[in-house]
Amino acid sequence: MRVLITGATGYVGQAVAVALAGAGHEVHALTRDPGSDRARALEDFGVRPLRGRLADRAELSGMLAGADAVVHTAFDPHDPVGADRALFGALADVGGRRHLVYTTGCSVYGEHAHAVLTPRTPVDGGNLRARLEAELRSAGLPHTVLRPGMVHGGDARSSIVGDWFREARSSGPVHRGRRDKVWSWIHVEDLARAYTAVLRAPEEHDGRAYLLADARPVAPLAVVEAAARAAGRTDALAFAPVEDEKPVYRVFDRDEVIDSSAARDALGWTPQESDVLAALPASFRQWSAART
Ligand SMILES: NC(=O)c1ccc[n+]([C@@H]2O[C@H](COP(=O)([O-])OP(=O)(O)OC[C@H]3O[C@@H](n4cnc5c(N)ncnc54)[C@H](OP(=O)(O)O)[C@@H]3O)[C@@H](O)[C@H]2O)c1
Repeated sequence: MRVLITGATGYVGQAVAVALAGAGHEVHALTRDPGSDRARALEDFGVRPLRGRLADRAELSGMLAGADAVVHTAFDPHDPVGADRALFGALADVGGRRHLVYTTGCSVYGEHAHAVLTPRTPVDGGNLRARLEAELRSAGLPHTVLRPGMVHGGDARSSIVGDWFREARSSGPVHRGRRDKVWSWIHVEDLARAYTAVLRAPEEHDGRAYLLADARPVAPLAVVEAAARAAGRTDALAFAPVEDEKPVYRVFDRDEVIDSSAARDALGWTPQESDVLAALPASFRQWSAART
C-alpha cells in the first residue's frame, strides 16, 4: 500500500513511519522541511520525505491523489483545528475511499473522573480533539481513530518522560500534582505496531476508535523517580502542586487508566514492552544521544 504519513519527523510519527515501511508499505512523509535532520533520517528506513503543509488543502489533495491510505500523526499547536480540517477537506476533495488513521489521545475525555477509560466511555463534547473526531465521523470519510495513553520509549522527544529527563538533568526531578494518581502507558514502538495492524485490514476498523496502552497502569510518582535515576540523579524528588491553570495540566491531578482490550481483540495487537519502568534506562540513553 502507498501510505502518506503526516508528522513523521515527530516523536510518534517517526516510529509509525519506520514500522509502516518495515511492514512493506511504500511510505511518503509530509513535512514542512524535507531537508531537516529528522526528515533525512527517515530515508535510511526507506521513507520518502515530501515537502508540504497541513494547512494547504490544495497541496494536500495533490499528495493524497497518489496514496492508498493516510496516517495522521502531525499536530500543529498553532492551528490544530485548521490543520486537521484541511486534511479532512483534502480527503473529501480526492473523493476516494482512502482510509485515514487519525491520532488523538485521552484528552478527548476532558476533565473526567472515570476509574477506567474504554471506547464506550463518553467523550467530552466540548473538547477540541473530541470535536475534530466528531467532524471526521460526520464527513463520512473511512477512518480509524487511535487514542494512545501516556507515550514513552525511544528518544522520548516530545513526551512527558522526556520532560522529566530534561528536569532531572537540569534543575532536578519534580513530581507534580496528586501523589497517588495512576496512569496507563504505551511504548512508542508498540503504539506504532497498532497503526500497522489497522492498515492490515482498514475496512474492518472503519469508524472505530481504539484506546492503546499496555496492561499495567503505573503511578507517575514511580516513573518520575525511575526517570531521575536513569538520568543519574540520586537526590530526593521535589513535590509541587499543579500551578498552571491550563486544562491540559490537570491530568497531573487525576487518574488516566485505559482498558485497551477492545484494541487487542480487534487488531490482534499485543504490546511487547509492557514495563515502563524497565524501559527508562534505554530511553534515557536515546534521549541523551539525540541531544549530542
Ligand atoms: N507525545 C505523546 O506523549 C503523545 C501522547 C498521546 C497522544 N499523542 C498524540 O500523538 C500525535 C503526535 O504527537 P507527537 O508528540 O509525536 O508530536 P511532535 O513530536 O510534536 O510532532 C509533530 C509533527 O507535526 C508536524 N507538523 C506540525 N505542524 C504541521 C503543519 N502545519 N504541517 C505539516 N506538519 C506539521 C511536524 O512536522 P514538520 O516539522 O516536519 O513539518 C512534527 O513532526 C499528536 O496528535 C499527539 O496529541 C502524543
